[in-house]
Amino acid sequence: MHMIRYAVFGHPIAHSLSPRIHTAFGHQLGIDVRYAAIDAAPEAFVEALERFAGDGGRGANVTMPLKEAAFALSAQLTERARRAGAVNTLTRVDGRWHGDTTDGAGLVRDLTARHGLDLRGRRALLLGAGGAARGVAPALLDAGIAELVVSNRTPERADALADALGEPKRAHSRYWDDLGNLGEFELIVNATSAARGGQGEFSLPFSITTSRTLAVDLNYGEAAIPFLAWARAANCRDVFDGLGMLVEQAAESFALWHGTRPDTDPVYATLRGHSAVLVTSD
Ligand code: ATR
Repeated sequence: MHMIRYAVFGHPIAHSLSPRIHTAFGHQLGIDVRYAAIDAAPEAFVEALERFAGDGGRGANVTMPLKEAAFALSAQLTERARRAGAVNTLTRVDGRWHGDTTDGAGLVRDLTARHGLDLRGRRALLLGAGGAARGVAPALLDAGIAELVVSNRTPERADALADALGEPKRAHSRYWDDLGNLGEFELIVNATSAARGGQGEFSLPFSITTSRTLAVDLNYGEAAIPFLAWARAANCRDVFDGLGMLVEQAAESFALWHGTRPDTDPVYATLRGHSAVLVTSD
């Protein structure tokens, strides 16, 4: 019997690349990784996770819309997960789940180590205040950005995220409707789900960009197309989707579970080769 010990939970989850990524890392390092994708609606998540643990599950990645639920059920949290208020990596320790988030580290590693960009001193705009936004905000601050403006369709969530970051001088919220009056940003991160499920246009004012702007969508594939198209039309210098972050956050989780860090470049190159979304950078 082949016991599944690792899995990604989400809803929907059928198209997740995580099983491929973790299996490829395992092949690279000679580790027999058994990693599945498990669909769980929010109301069924806790039960599905306990069943998984009962069947020998040792580690789980968690994606939308379950990252805040994973945070809530974690018996222990890492400092970065606590600051993010979101968990994407669960590890079974002594019959309980320990929660961590590797999303922010994955994003920063993708932008700095892979793409060679310096985030320090940039004025940054974070679009969205859900689980994805919470997951990356602390790591952006730690990477040395000068200012983080959080803007969200529902302003109360942006306020809550800015408050939770606890750095009122650097991180604050602004109204989405007021984006056109906020000046220029050298880093713009789309952490909204606005274009998931094929909802068309992504309309933001060009005035928030400069010719030096780095624009990143945490989504990849179809869901990233509208924001990337907008960023290119606005002449942003560097435009990336979330595929690199996906691979890097997976590597962080893999290192936590298996004690060894995979080389992400070949896995990224393979997935990029199959991805419909083109990425541009000068
Ligand atoms: P995730 O875990 O991916 O962050 P989420 O917690 O449901 O998912 O958050 C989705 C984010 O996308 C939220 O910031 C949401 O804004 P609201 O808080 O106002 O719901 C944002 N979002 C979704 N659809 C959007 C749209 N059409 N325009 C702008 N923001 C949108």
